[in-house]
Amino acid sequence: MTALDTLRGKYIEAIAAAADEAALEDVRLAALGKKGEISLKMRELGQMSPEERQTVGAALNRLRDELDASLRARKAGLADAALDARLKTEWLDVTLPGRPRRMGTIHPVSQVMAELTAIFADMGFAVAEGPQVESDWFNFDALNIPPEHPARQEHDTFFMARAPGDARPPHVLRTHTSPVQIRAMQAQGAPIRVIAPGRVYRMDMDQTHTPMFHQVEGLAIDRDISMANLKWVLEEFCRAFFEVPSVELRFRASHFPFTEPSAEVDIRCSWEGGQLKIGEGDGWLEILGSGMVHPKVLAAAGVNPDEWQGFAFGMGIDRIAMLKYGIPDLRAFFESDLRWLRHYGFAALDMPDLAGGLSR
Ligand code: PHE
Repeated sequence: MTALDTLRGKYIEAIAAAADEAALEDVRLAALGKKGEISLKMRELGQMSPEERQTVGAALNRLRDELDASLRARKAGLADAALDARLKTEWLDVTLPGRPRRMGTIHPVSQVMAELTAIFADMGFAVAEGPQVESDWFNFDALNIPPEHPARQEHDTFFMARAPGDARPPHVLRTHTSPVQIRAMQAQGAPIRVIAPGRVYRMDMDQTHTPMFHQVEGLAIDRDISMANLKWVLEEFCRAFFEVPSVELRFRASHFPFTEPSAEVDIRCSWEGGQLKIGEGDGWLEILGSGMVHPKVLAAAGVNPDEWQGFAFGMGIDRIAMLKYGIPDLRAFFESDLRWLRHYGFAALDMPDLAGGLSR
């Protein structure tokens, strides 16, 4: 049996030495394949005497079974090792914190529009819209500003060019968001509660004026709405918007053709060491114009002034954005300077909401 013992030793060693599944398959073929050494030995059994055949045959069978078992075991071991090696190189620590990637930045004006929309939505105001190129009827006449009214000059209006003989009504770049009052009431009638944020245009340019800027119009019409409701809504808005426990507003009598009575509203603030604080100190900053909607405006929009009344206001969005976020120069808002945007901008996926906080 020394020949078989030698054979056994050789293959057991070869199986142990096979470094991967391919090498192991070579060993299997060399031993147990059709032309493998063990298989050839089996074939030789035919030429042996019956007694010899019995002992050698049994020994060969044992050897074949043993090698087969050890091939299988080695194969399983190699597969496990290969898997372990892969797991070691392909691991991923799923407990690591996410890597925040800045997907652009939200401009402070867009941020503030989203913030104020959230606040007014909470008070039941829907968002209304109107065109930026507006007919002079919506921008002026319907708002009780007839053609010869001095307010038309005060608005420093941009007029749209017209070909000679063009019969369409004259158009302007809207000078305020107030024409959306008319459009919203025409479309929806009364009662109505809307805000209308958007771009407006006036021919003006210095540190606090740009030819294009942003306003938000507010309009609330019902059977018994008064200046008291206006005051509460504006105070509530300022408290929520500036994220301070209390604010103080000052209503100054004023004049707008489309409201009667009219008031301009200032907010109490302090300038200490160049740092602006809302809600304290003895400074005042004007933030909006407002009043009770003029009966002629209601009538122009198809709402019966004997039945309905309410308030309107128009607030400068850029102005309140500068106040809240301490931005000194209005012109920088519209220069598209990336460094400025990265400094004053907001994370793209952080939408303001009242529950989670307006500005995180
Ligand atoms: N439209 C006015 C402006 O642009 C603001 C305003 C709106 C005043 C609504 C009163 C009521 O100055």
